[in-house]
Amino acid sequence: MPGNRLKNMRPRSRVLMVGFAGHQGKEYLPIVRESADVVGGVDPAPAASSLADEWGFPHYDHLGEALERVDFDAAVVTVPHSEHFPVCAKLLAHGRHIIKEKPFAVTEQEARQLIHLAQRADRSVFTLLQRNFNPVFRFAQDNLARIGEPYWFSYDYHLNLAHPTTGWRASRAQAMGGVLLDMGYHLIDVLGGMFPEPEPPRVSSAFVHHYQEMRDRRLEDLVSLMCSYPSTGLVGSLRISRHNYEKVEHLCVLGTEGALNVAPGIAVLHSIGGLPLERRTWAGPKTDTVRSMIAHYLGHLDDRDYRHDHLQRQLAVVRTIDGIYRDRLRARSELADRCA
Ligand SMILES: NC(=O)c1ccc[n+]([C@@H]2O[C@H](COP(=O)([O-])OP(=O)(O)OC[C@H]3O[C@@H](n4cnc5c(N)ncnc54)[C@H](O)[C@@H]3O)[C@@H](O)[C@H]2O)c1
Repeated sequence: MPGNRLKNMRPRSRVLMVGFAGHQGKEYLPIVRESADVVGGVDPAPAASSLADEWGFPHYDHLGEALERVDFDAAVVTVPHSEHFPVCAKLLAHGRHIIKEKPFAVTEQEARQLIHLAQRADRSVFTLLQRNFNPVFRFAQDNLARIGEPYWFSYDYHLNLAHPTTGWRASRAQAMGGVLLDMGYHLIDVLGGMFPEPEPPRVSSAFVHHYQEMRDRRLEDLVSLMCSYPSTGLVGSLRISRHNYEKVEHLCVLGTEGALNVAPGIAVLHSIGGLPLERRTWAGPKTDTVRSMIAHYLGHLDDRDYRHDHLQRQLAVVRTIDGIYRDRLRARSELADRCA
């Protein structure tokens, strides 16, 4: 009955946009508006006030001000990495759901603390990862079993930025990591969805710098990883960079009975020997993926089972990345001790 259907539907959420005047905030604003009421925005940037006027919602310089003055159900958080934890902890302390940009957290300790705060508040913290809503990556996930036992993957993700990194991404204190954290988060999450493992993979890494200032700040411009998963014997390699000669994303998985080839616009299932068996193409636009991701998260804010699975997967991603950075740090300090 329509009456019953209406009764079970979540009312339109009231959303606060935190960091709305930045790149991702501006991209998400019109899309969030389609399925929620944007009741305010927080951003200290000089342009934020006129942007909020344009969009017709109240503007606040600080989150504390918004929490005092406006009622809302969920916040969409798109701020620099160093701001994620303090912003999210404050939102959860005030009982608000969160839909946030990656990374879920920077360290395993922060991730565990955030999960604890979310559980205590009985609220969701969802991380925006658009590949999980891209039909091509969905095809790869749905057809993974058809390649038998996966034994190797190779994943490349490169941008072709012709200039040095600027803004908060060039500040160690704000970025808290280089391309591994910024771009690699997406890839580690995709792999976590395809190959869920109880323990993080064993990883050996090479951190490479294009620009001297990034080397000085210990913010890698390129990272190459070799990963192995002891429980299944799966091995794979990833390469991620900002200053490649071309922009490219390509994942290849080899299995005992076939192979999967995935790029943002096309996924192909191959037999052993390379015969294409089935393909899925998708021409975008990217806003379609973002729209379904945001609508999906807004529709699952009160879904505790979904929330639990999402948090566990993000914890695994953060553990892997944090583990790689900690290994690097350990190696550096051992080297320094040896040289002293
Ligand atoms: N999913 C993707 O493909 C993708 C792409 C780009 C960025 N991101 C992520 O989005 C986040 C933001 O990146 P961006 O490129 O939009 O950065 P940005 O610098 O363009 O925007 C960040 C905004 O946050 C504001 N801000 C800073 N501190 C704040 C605070 N405490 N409260 C409220 N606002 C604050 C800044 O004034 C700025 O307007 C990062 O986590 C980044 O990793 C994701």
